[in-house]
Amino acid sequence: MKTTFFGQSTFMIETGGKKLLFDPFITPNPMAKDIDINSLKPDYILVSHGHGDHVADLIAIQKSSDAIIICIAEIANWLGKHGINNAHGMNIGGGFNFDFGRVKMVNAIHSSTLPDGSPGGNPAGFVIYADGKTIYYAGDTALTYDMKLLADENLDWAYLPIGDNYTMGVDDAIKATDFINCKNVIGMHYDTFSVIVIDKEEAEQKFIKAGINIKLPGIGESLEL
Ligand code: NI
Ligand code: MN
Repeated sequence: MKTTFFGQSTFMIETGGKKLLFDPFITPNPMAKDIDINSLKPDYILVSHGHGDHVADLIAIQKSSDAIIICIAEIANWLGKHGINNAHGMNIGGGFNFDFGRVKMVNAIHSSTLPDGSPGGNPAGFVIYADGKTIYYAGDTALTYDMKLLADENLDWAYLPIGDNYTMGVDDAIKATDFINCKNVIGMHYDTFSVIVIDKEEAEQKFIKAGINIKLPGIGESLEL
């Protein structure tokens, strides 16, 4: 299983010959200017919530790839109004078996309004079960006791927001690793806007001191999970 970072909370996971893209926000991000969204060609796009920094390139990439979008029911309905009729709507607590593996939608503590002001339902995170691995993609969230529900999932990796201001910061993300019982962390949702700029070296040191295997890949960089 391979993952590639495209800035903010945008990642690709490649597993079993399928490409899963998460929360596409690339063209508005100057740090990701070298990424060509038309070359990504995902099979699925998973959307955690409706904010612009998670859906900016959603429709354009869906149109260039015909990807199936996995998202909460309200966003699936909104996509239908934009002519995208293959979105797979889910809701918190529900799981579904796709051809690449299983996706369970889990709680996130945040808000969710779409760029045009439409309600985006509740914000969500995902647990992905594929290729013998279990991965938690937290989306935008506060630290929440609901994360303890994941403690017995034997998570292999967790994508956690660490930028503070809109989501958890580093210190709460470290507490989250105890709640979810996972010490392999990929940080996300930092540096893109002035209020979420972090000191990467200090953040890495805090994670390492807490015994966490932290990865903060550069934009365009891939890791083996
Ligand atoms: Ni958000
Ligand atoms: Mn966000």
